[in-house]
Amino acid sequence: MIVCQNIKQLREQTAMWRKNDERIAFVPTMGNLHDGHLSLVEIAHQHAVRVVVSIYVNPLQFAPGEDFASYPRTLEDDLKQLQMLGVDLVFTPDTQIVYPNGDQQNTFVQVPKLSDILEGEFRPGFFTGVCTVVLKLFNMVQPDCAVFGEKDFQQLLVVRQMVNDLDLPVEIIAGAIKREADGLAMSSRNNYLNSADRATSRYLSKALAFCRQQIDRGVNVDEAEKNAVATLQKQGFIVDYVTLREAERLEKVSPADITANTELVILAAAKLGNTRLIDNVRFVKSAKS
Ligand code: PAF
Repeated sequence: MIVCQNIKQLREQTAMWRKNDERIAFVPTMGNLHDGHLSLVEIAHQHAVRVVVSIYVNPLQFAPGEDFASYPRTLEDDLKQLQMLGVDLVFTPDTQIVYPNGDQQNTFVQVPKLSDILEGEFRPGFFTGVCTVVLKLFNMVQPDCAVFGEKDFQQLLVVRQMVNDLDLPVEIIAGAIKREADGLAMSSRNNYLNSADRATSRYLSKALAFCRQQIDRGVNVDEAEKNAVATLQKQGFIVDYVTLREAERLEKVSPADITANTELVILAAAKLGNTRLIDNVRFVKSAKS
């Protein structure tokens, strides 16, 4: 497995693979890898001969006061896991490499509308940071396809929109959410939870599952969302949102718009102590109700 920090070495290697007609799949990460990331690597292997993973904690997507400084950095462990999965190249640039112009970097990628709602509302600037670094990484790696996890469902849609709008020749592939035994969606930030909060955190996926069940049974959407919020608050969560959306543009759906074929998603974000968790459940309303 090649581990490289600089763009020249990365480009020389990926150019060689392209010259040999070897398809390249890319998995961008911020490291501190868990089974969720590893499942994305497995998907990457199914779509290409060569797999490149990047590990870079991108300062541009953290607002002041967020956890950039404390974000877990576990490079040695990460590399061991990636080696075991047969990854071809791990790109581990530092900020000098990614943003050599520092404060003089004046070009940012924005995907308005889709980026302004939900996560964008609670984390202003987050998607500009994500899109800017993802586009830069795409330009560095020049992959044929890239795999993003559905846990960050809005991020997946925003990246897809950027790729469509800018005609980037990269196929975006979605990887299903990986969950702990009690249902908690895997995330590097789960490590921040103390043991009491870790025990409580399981209610997030349970509240989503119950909300879905209620909507499926024809309970009024507002009421189902409010029930989920109330359940979470009772368990000690500070809830940012629990909301039903259609699963393409994340627009609100009225009951009249929901047919048996409408792809729906319930998204939630809530804090337990200082840890902000997000989760979602995607579904199509069952035909019977
Ligand atoms: O999902 C993440 O880990 C990050 O947002 C990403 C896509 C690696 C960009 O920094």
